Amino acid sequence: NIPTRVKLIDVGPRDGLQNEKQPVPADVKIGLVHRLQDAGLKEIEVTSYVSPKWVPQMADNHEVMAGIARRSDVRYSVLTPNLKGWEAAVLDKPDEIVVFGAASEAFSQKNINCSIAESIERFAPVVEAARAAGIQVRGAMSCTVGCPYEGEVAPERVAYLAGLLKGIGVQRVDVADTIGVGTPRKVQRAIEATLKHFGIDDVSGHFHDTYGQALSNTLAALELGVWNFQSSVAGLGGCPYAKGATGNVATEDLVYMLHGMGIETGIDLDRLVDAGAYISDFLGRKPQSRVAVALLNK
Ligand code: HMG
Ligand code: MG
Repeated sequence: NIPTRVKLIDVGPRDGLQNEKQPVPADVKIGLVHRLQDAGLKEIEVTSYVSPKWVPQMADNHEVMAGIARRSDVRYSVLTPNLKGWEAAVLDKPDEIVVFGAASEAFSQKNINCSIAESIERFAPVVEAARAAGIQVRGAMSCTVGCPYEGEVAPERVAYLAGLLKGIGVQRVDVADTIGVGTPRKVQRAIEATLKHFGIDDVSGHFHDTYGQALSNTLAALELGVWNFQSSVAGLGGCPYAKGATGNVATEDLVYMLHGMGIETGIDLDRLVDAGAYISDFLGRKPQSRVAVALLNK
């Protein structure tokens, strides 16, 4: 039951860049979004409406959203942790907003400064307002296999969070391995826990590649029928509240694997590699994608 088609959400502009120390000008972020949509990405996570004291790199959210030449067939999503974030985001007309919770209490505290229960109370009015405005709502679930502060996370914690998110009207969820410690069977347990509350079409995999397991974890998720995945072009990224964690699996690596398996993505790998080279050049480093490096050296 491996899917024949996969939808990728490139989270590079948001998850990828949020942790960059050097300021990336809005123009460069906009240029990246344009290259991603030119490469065939139909979903792009653009920015977040969080405290600029906590995440300075995302302070230009309005400028970036306003500068994108939007396409009607591309879904642009943004992170909104609370009503203040929602009120700022809605002015920029995102197609989807993302509330982000954690399966571990400690990570919830470090990342969004509240407990899991409090986070749900903060998300509920955001979800309600977004749904009333006809905007899609996704829920990110961090630390679904491991937490930088608590260690291993049990599938029951994931099921608990998924149930709470479902209860407030979140439409689909990401099973995130925030620090990239997961291995295939553990990731499958986290996905199965999520499937207690969400259908397979509404569950996506979000795997960081810190320990080099993200492609294997993707294959494990595909085996369960998951067909939505998040990735970062050039393997950009890391979370500011997960020390040492590296970026998401590189979109280029994922596309190469999927196409090699005969799975359709609608993405043009060469153009994607160009998008990755564009942002990597700006940051002054080589793309973290093995596939991109191989193709660029050919
Ligand atoms: P807080 O301090 O608890 O919030 O922060 P507060 O309501 O007490 O307000 C404190 C100050 O923040 C006030 O300003 C508010 O106005 C301001 P002051 O009066 O001190 O000048 N504030 C805001 N400003 C802008 N936008 C807002 C906002 N809310 C309050 N939305 C808060 C709570 C969530 C805001 C804070 O903890 C925060 O910004 N955290 C950053 C979270 C973040 O962006 N983390 C990275 C993304 S998550 C991730 O990467 C994981 C993911 O990829 C999945 C995975 O891999 O696991 C999604
Ligand atoms: Mg992430």
